[in-house]
Amino acid sequence: MRAVWLTDIHLDFLSPRACQDFFARVVSTTPDAVFLTGDVSIAPSLLDHLSALSDAINKPVYFVLGNHDFYHGSITKVRARVRQFCRTHPSLNYLTSKKIVPLTQSTALVGHDGWGDGRYGDYPHSTVRLNDHLLIKELTGLTSTGLQQRLMRLGDAAATSLRKVVPDALNRYQQVILLTHVPPFRESCWYQGRVSNDDWLPLFACQAVGDVLREEMAKRPDRRMTVYCGHTHSPGTAQILPNLLVVTGAAEYGAPQINDVLTID
Ligand SMILES: [Fe+2]
Ligand SMILES: [Fe+2]
Repeated sequence: MRAVWLTDIHLDFLSPRACQDFFARVVSTTPDAVFLTGDVSIAPSLLDHLSALSDAINKPVYFVLGNHDFYHGSITKVRARVRQFCRTHPSLNYLTSKKIVPLTQSTALVGHDGWGDGRYGDYPHSTVRLNDHLLIKELTGLTSTGLQQRLMRLGDAAATSLRKVVPDALNRYQQVILLTHVPPFRESCWYQGRVSNDDWLPLFACQAVGDVLREEMAKRPDRRMTVYCGHTHSPGTAQILPNLLVVTGAAEYGAPQINDVLTID
């Protein structure tokens, strides 16, 4: 099968016409499915954009959400609304609330939004502030310590969810593809050709998810996992273990691109 991978397409930066032009470019690659690793839009327009994308492409869309998808909303409410929406739009598949998706006889797909969980790098001394902390309900009005605890809990929830599905997926399939928004390892947190520094790492990588993936893949040298993620808008690949590769996608606001066309055996 062929899957088109897109990340950080930020459709809220585009006119409806430009969205349709981009969708036509995706269709022209004749995919069997679309993989979307978050930052699709912002909360008020997310469902309309997901629906427009799905209508234009007319193939299954497997996606996770990124931090921007919760802007002007709440994480809990947006996730619930998206889950509900997917029930009436069967070609839209929100991986955060799904278990294992079989793609081929040997390959399965899993995923979770993930979250920059304040663990890698030097959170206490970081001066980086994101709009997340002004525009996402659960992250506003917190002290620095309170915010770090909240970020850790979001990372832990992603890790807990993946700990439930990844071992089973590895038991049943030779290869697992994992979609997440936030790079799960320091080495995969690319920024302009280098790994992000200790100021940016706390908010741009998710250690809780990385720890689960490293542990599970170390137990299964006979299996392979490829992780696709975004969030940093800077491309790079990181071979974490011989059987664990992380690919981080490039992105530019207002100029969405096709990150890759994957052939899956
Ligand atoms: Fe983004
Ligand atoms: Fe992001």
